[in-house]
Amino acid sequence: MTPSVTVRAASKVNLYLGVGRPRPDGYHPLATVYQTLSLHDDVTVSSGPAWSVTLVCEDGIDRDGFPAGEDNIVVRAGRLLTKHHGRDGAAEFTVRKSIPIAGGLAGGSADAAAALVALDRLWELDTSDDDLLSLAAQLGSDVPFALVGGTALGRGRGEVVTPMLDEGTRWWVVVPARTGLSTPVVYRHFDELCPDAPEEVTVPEDLVAALADPDNRVLAAALRNDLEPAAIDLRPELGELIETGERAGALRGMISGSGPTCMFLCSDRGSADRVRTTLLDTGHPRVLVALGPVSGTHVVEYK
Ligand code: C5P
Repeated sequence: MTPSVTVRAASKVNLYLGVGRPRPDGYHPLATVYQTLSLHDDVTVSSGPAWSVTLVCEDGIDRDGFPAGEDNIVVRAGRLLTKHHGRDGAAEFTVRKSIPIAGGLAGGSADAAAALVALDRLWELDTSDDDLLSLAAQLGSDVPFALVGGTALGRGRGEVVTPMLDEGTRWWVVVPARTGLSTPVVYRHFDELCPDAPEEVTVPEDLVAALADPDNRVLAAALRNDLEPAAIDLRPELGELIETGERAGALRGMISGSGPTCMFLCSDRGSADRVRTTLLDTGHPRVLVALGPVSGTHVVEYK
């Protein structure tokens, strides 16, 4: 049997997403608090004659938007790590996908982080954590956080990650949309709606204090996403969905990252299950319950 390694890739929600005006390089300065969720993909890698990626989707996941072959971020991660070590060779990846594609849950970023770790372990490359983080930042703004996981502060364009204290078990109801939203399109719409966004952004003290409190009601009051008005303007039905979830008992509904996935923070598991049932009854075909924080990318199987 060909040896393989499987690494778990967790989705994320931004508990806080403060966005400033675009920098000279076109990226937006961020002050964000990320949290990894139990909703995850699994990325398996084995050596092969050519770089490839195979997608295996859970029911209800729209495959469109998953780039094939060389354009896929998983293949780019494999190539980047190989180049970093000055090696030859190629690998075959399989992504078992439960995280919606282009959903604002950083599924692609998590897969890329998992691909780095999986290939590093398969080929026993012994890449240092610092090097893995810097390769991750080259792949995308959310990729370093996916490696670290837990609850963490993100600065810069999101790639400078510092772990944060989080005393809670946060119960989320996750409602993916039928079709994804493009992150650059949402950022561009943010620029149109907020031409006076500040040059620098920070995470407020009340969010930091809320994370030290296990009561999810306290955290709910501190959640914020500056991209939410832009995402709702592009998809007005998301605003209605947030209202429906809050009426069903969620402490707070919000857009995840650049959307269109909607997230509902609930007081406990029972409340999350009840909100899920109501949203299923109102015609949303895929409604999930997830908890956070969970760990970042980690090996789940060596074969
Ligand atoms: O870094 P990543 O490739 O994930 O970013 C995708 C796109 O999102 C960027 O090309 C940019 O348009 C937008 N973005 C941004 N500011 C950030 C992060 C992402 O404008 N801090």
